[in-house]
Amino acid sequence: MQNIEINIATSSDISALCEFEKTARITEPEIWIDKFDINEYRKKMLSADLDNLENNKIILAKQNGKIIGRCDLLIMDSLMDFEMIGYIDWIYVLKGYRRKGIGKRLIDRAEEFFREKGVKEYYLFTAQNDEAQKFYHKLGYTIKNREIALKDIGTGV
Ligand SMILES: CC(C)(COP(=O)(O)OP(=O)(O)OC[C@H]1O[C@@H](n2cnc3c(N)ncnc32)[C@H](O)[C@@H]1OP(=O)(O)O)[C@@H](O)C(=O)NCCC(=O)NCCS
Repeated sequence: MQNIEINIATSSDISALCEFEKTARITEPEIWIDKFDINEYRKKMLSADLDNLENNKIILAKQNGKIIGRCDLLIMDSLMDFEMIGYIDWIYVLKGYRRKGIGKRLIDRAEEFFREKGVKEYYLFTAQNDEAQKFYHKLGYTIKNREIALKDIGTGV
């Protein structure tokens, strides 16, 4: 695919990110349950201070300035064994742009970032849909069946 740039998001990408999120929800409403408020989303992105986050990044795929894919990562730095572990929080490519290698390029850039930071290993929670499953298998992930203990500690707000 022509003219695809893969970059780490900065605050100058926030408007395009808002449009990307809006388009994703219009084209694939079954993925998101919550109502999308673009102004609220913009406010949250602005307050996230993207430019100064060290261990939390969004990798973007852009074509002629339009965002067509994103991959969100973070690094956890352990004080138990002083190892860092990476985590891919989310990867999403707009529907009309899939099967063109963009997802793979986003993951390649995320892995490059992890390596630069000294991260040797990362994980993600698998999505069950067929596209995602085929993607993980092609990209060489080892799927482990470990239990996850999750607790809702909602504040009641
Ligand atoms: C999963 C997802 C990110 C893949 O993005 P993509 O840009 O289509 O992926 P790529 O084109 O880089 O695919 C890489 C390889 O994965 C495999 N693959 C990806 N989608 C596939 C599909 N629908 N059917 C068969 N194989 C597929 C192929 O082997 C492909 O390589 P090839 O095209 O050379 O055969 C995209 O389908 C998506 O956004 N899905 C919805 C969101 C989601 O489920 N995210 C995962 C949550 S963690």
